[in-house]
Amino acid sequence: MARIRVIGGNQLNGSIPISGAKNAALPLMIASLLTEEPLVLNNVPRLADVSQLEKILANHGVDIAVHGRRALDEDDRGQRMTFTAAEIVDTCAPYELVSTMRASFWVIGPLLARMGEARVSLPGGCGIGTRPVDFYLQGLRALGAEIDIDEGYVVARAPKGGLIGNTFRSPGISVGATHVIMMAATLARGTTTIENAAMEPEVTNLAECLNAMGARISGIGTRTLVIEGVERLHGTEFDVIPDRIEAGTFAMAVAMTGGNVLLKGARPEHFSAAIDILRQTGVHLEAEEDGLRVVRNGNGLVSIDANIDTFPGFPTDLQAQFMTLMTRASGVSHIKETIFENRFMHVAELARFGADIRVEGQTATVTGVPELRGAQVMATDLRASVSLVIAGLAASGETIVSRIYHLDRGFERLEEKLSACGANVERIGVGYPD
Ligand code: EPZ
Repeated sequence: MARIRVIGGNQLNGSIPISGAKNAALPLMIASLLTEEPLVLNNVPRLADVSQLEKILANHGVDIAVHGRRALDEDDRGQRMTFTAAEIVDTCAPYELVSTMRASFWVIGPLLARMGEARVSLPGGCGIGTRPVDFYLQGLRALGAEIDIDEGYVVARAPKGGLIGNTFRSPGISVGATHVIMMAATLARGTTTIENAAMEPEVTNLAECLNAMGARISGIGTRTLVIEGVERLHGTEFDVIPDRIEAGTFAMAVAMTGGNVLLKGARPEHFSAAIDILRQTGVHLEAEEDGLRVVRNGNGLVSIDANIDTFPGFPTDLQAQFMTLMTRASGVSHIKETIFENRFMHVAELARFGADIRVEGQTATVTGVPELRGAQVMATDLRASVSLVIAGLAASGETIVSRIYHLDRGFERLEEKLSACGANVERIGVGYPD
């Protein structure tokens, strides 16, 4: 298995192009199931999760074309891809495919809306929490679907004549449930209101794409989405938003090492809570015409508390990276994770660098230490794994991060982007046992 080797101590200087957002690209790709016409997506990142979803969609009969090179474009743009679901050949998403990527469960919404039926494997829990799908099922039932659980599969059937619009108040805020119910409601008869909807930028990106496909969604970017059902959707061409988690991650990397980096294409309004907190730690961040500039020169970092929350709060997908940053700040920081019940697995790995972190319940107390020392560490999930790379950038000596297949699910060309700014980081040992 490949590993990442980092020699710490170098500042980061230069510019980093921000890729298309994984968590926006995946639901947009799934939305292609709603129409027989082609959906063209620009700026799709080259990631393992995108390739995996291509396989899942192909299994349902979606024809997928990649225009231009799969390698990096000269202007750093992601892939331009066309998804054509002219005919859905299979409404079943099997365990073997869904179990490798939770977001593939989301096909249940479009399949049910367009075909009137879907049989989709329950995704099961994962490293960061149990992650049930009860809100999704309540929402689909509210639209008139009949739902059974059979041998680990959710079997959903729409009433004769299709799903029926209704008001659904989600018991909790869920990005995935909002994506699914919104997609399903676009083709329902009548009007659907989703109360307590997620308003993450990725939800907004999907809602705007659906409207470009002929859907009638209002309240976009608020807690209440109103969807007037239409008979059919059509094809369109649409851009995936830049990845706010990737941008926030690189901002924390620069904060960690010091330096001056322009995050090209980053949209500060998509992660303003994280930007505010970073500013309070002593990092200088400034929006520029083509992105966000991050500067830390000389000054030390101040410890700040962070409460993780749904958008517009501080995102859970930046929690591990922020905790890493706080290991080097002067003072004590309390970080409260409120979204997932088991998202502190990086704590034990950060301890291997000499970090001082205590966890009680959902709160981690991080006491800054004067230095981190390089170590051999193991990635436990996608965002935790990048936090270990960041720790390595600021640690003295050598760090080896193993199980980096987690990283490849969600960070495009991480080592390349960091090296271009002066980091000493490389991928080693392809084929080496994990
Ligand atoms: C999305 O997951 C993201 N994944 C996650 O990113 C992100 O951490 C999460 O939203 C929160 O922002 C993608 O977009 C592909 P949720 P999702 O439903 O939709 C509970 C990454 O690293 N819940 O908003 O699965 C749930 O257990 C990933 O890129 C229920 O109880 O998250 C969790 O505690 C990790 N019942 C909370 O809600 C339900 O039916 C929020 O989960 C649904 C959710």
